[in-house]
Amino acid sequence: MKKLLILLTATILVSSIATIVVAVTNGPAEIKFTPKMGTVTFDHTAHQSLTDCSTCHHTGDYAQCKSCHGINPKAVKAKDAYHKTCKDCHKEMAKGPTRCRECHIK
Ligand code: HEC
Ligand code: HEC
Ligand code: HEC
Ligand code: HEC
Repeated sequence: MKKLLILLTATILVSSIATIVVAVTNGPAEIKFTPKMGTVTFDHTAHQSLTDCSTCHHTGDYAQCKSCHGINPKAVKAKDAYHKTCKDCHKEMAKGPTRCRECHIK
């Protein structure tokens, strides 16, 4: 009985750790950017099935873009980093918004 209890507790512990890890690696399902230009609603989960993580997270880690862009002088301004990543792909694939007001909703 005692063994069973220990096993059960261990199983619960392991599975709850696994859940936390999955949530952290995939990031938020939806990300809302709120610049003055107008809110951009980005469906992170949908985009994850369109391309590899590294298309956007090009440094191999999942740090926020603005932790480098706008800070590291070698990295382009954050606005250009987003526009280049997002708009260029939409243009290339001829799918997804490319006009200002299709992304920035007031
Ligand atoms: C189409 C572009 C794109 C793809 C593909 C993508 N992401 Fe993201 N992801 C983003 C953007 C943009 C953010 C928000 C970053 C920010 O706030 O600066 C983000 C945020 C995250 C965060 C949260 C970072 C933080 O500290 O707030 C994690 C974790 C993450 N992504 C993991 C992943 C994983 C894992 C994959 C692949 C399965 C993936 N992403 C695919 C664009 C993308
Ligand atoms: C750890 C720092 C770091 C993070 C985090 C980071 N970048 Fe970058 N990024 C750079 C540096 C440095 C460059 C310029 C050198 C290079 O191309 O690698 C760059 C280049 C780029 C370029 C190419 C610009 C050009 O004109 O060729 C794009 C686009 C870009 N980043 C988008 C993003 C996006 C979107 C995110 C967040 C999902 C992000 N980056 C996260 C450091 C970073
Ligand atoms: C790998 C190419 C690619 C990248 C990179 C990419 N997208 Fe997209 N995006 C698409 C495609 C393809 C669609 C259309 C999906 C569909 O119609 O099913 C789309 C659709 C969208 C939509 C419209 C969704 C809807 O419900 O109508 C928005 C908004 C969007 N993307 C924002 C962004 C933002 C913001 C970024 C950058 C952080 C980004 N995308 C990066 C390919 C990309
Ligand atoms: C594919 C979606 C998309 C399209 C199309 C787009 N943008 Fe953006 N834009 C973004 C994202 C994402 C950001 C980053 C917002 C942030 O940093 O919080 C951004 C940031 C900006 C910023 C910087 C805001 C700030 O406060 O730093 C300006 C200005 C801007 N966009 C103007 C435009 C204009 C003008 C157009 C049309 C020529 C346009 N955008 C088209 C997604 C888009």
